[in-house]
Amino acid sequence: MIKLIFVTGARPNFVKIAPLIKAVRALKGIDWKLVHTGQHYDPILTDVFLKDLSIPAPNINLNVGSGSHANQVASVMTKFELYCLGEYPDSVIVVGDVNSTLGCALAVSKLPGIKLAHVEAGCRVFDHSPEEINRVLVDKISDYLFCPTAHDRSNALAEGAPFTNCHVVGDVAVDTLRSILPKLTYDAPSSHYALFTLHRPANVDNPKALKHLLTIAREIARHIRVLFPVHPRTLRAIKRFGFRQFANHLDFSPPLGYIQCMATLKNAQFLLTDSGGLQVEAHFLKTPCLTLDKITGHMATVACRANTLVGTNLHTVVSAARDILNGRHSQILDGDFWDGRVAARIVTYLTQRSP
Ligand code: UD1
Repeated sequence: MIKLIFVTGARPNFVKIAPLIKAVRALKGIDWKLVHTGQHYDPILTDVFLKDLSIPAPNINLNVGSGSHANQVASVMTKFELYCLGEYPDSVIVVGDVNSTLGCALAVSKLPGIKLAHVEAGCRVFDHSPEEINRVLVDKISDYLFCPTAHDRSNALAEGAPFTNCHVVGDVAVDTLRSILPKLTYDAPSSHYALFTLHRPANVDNPKALKHLLTIAREIARHIRVLFPVHPRTLRAIKRFGFRQFANHLDFSPPLGYIQCMATLKNAQFLLTDSGGLQVEAHFLKTPCLTLDKITGHMATVACRANTLVGTNLHTVVSAARDILNGRHSQILDGDFWDGRVAARIVTYLTQRSP
């Protein structure tokens, strides 16, 4: 019997693993397991997502928790290697670009006979952020690279990935979003607001950068109410650097669950963010997105006019926000592979290739 192990571990992973588990459950004769590395452990970053996305209880939680990059990756590697040696699957499926993805990929890459599949392969921003390093390294050692778009495949090919290993299948996160669309009407806040999120280490761990970005959001809050669900990393930084006064201008809240977050995004006038996943989700929901960067790993969102790379210049960002509020925004075009069958394509491919 074919044996597959799916790996999840941090908030953005749950959104990507949910449709894959649904697709594998629909097939008969597959022995599959779900591993939770425990990188994220707060209920608001994990349990809420498992529940919202109807993900079954993982077979094992490796409980790696927080730590330095080296500590976290090493802990994932050690514990996942042990689990894999016991289970010895045909393939391991990792998603996205978090430390858990890299740790599991490295552990598997040296176990003979186990294939490594990377879902969301080829996305690149060409910087040295932790996520970019994880993405490049995981793609380098993967046997199957499932790319959201042709653009992402060309990135992987340019780095030497063999053509036959790279498959353009679409973005699994869109499968997830499609599946919960009917639920979005219930939780939606109704008032006029913008949604703001911030969590990248380069933006929040450096007091100058964080203060500047909060100042931009405060400036925008002069024109429209700004909802700011705060990531634990960001909240810690805000407290540490003494920036709590920004709560007088921005609507701080704890992180949102998946359905609540998507409903909030759908009804927002626009999104202001440094998150990659939310750019794709905003595109699908046709909410204009302003990305606080000059580059993105999701170029299709820019090509479809859903996403503007505004960078971090205060005047540029505020003026882009005012343009949207004044109705000066192009019509957003549909993306490719919005058929809800991305995960089914991946799982079918894997089960047909395994012995
Ligand atoms: C991680 C991912 C990032 C992803 C983000 C989404 C990496 C390198 N980064 O960043 O790509 O977009 O998740 O959330 O993997 N913490 C809690 N509770 C938790 C988990 C973390 O309070 O359940 C705190 C910890 O104290 C930790 C900090 O948040 O110091 C950062 O956690 P970590 O897992 O290192 O990375 P994220 O910033 O969450």
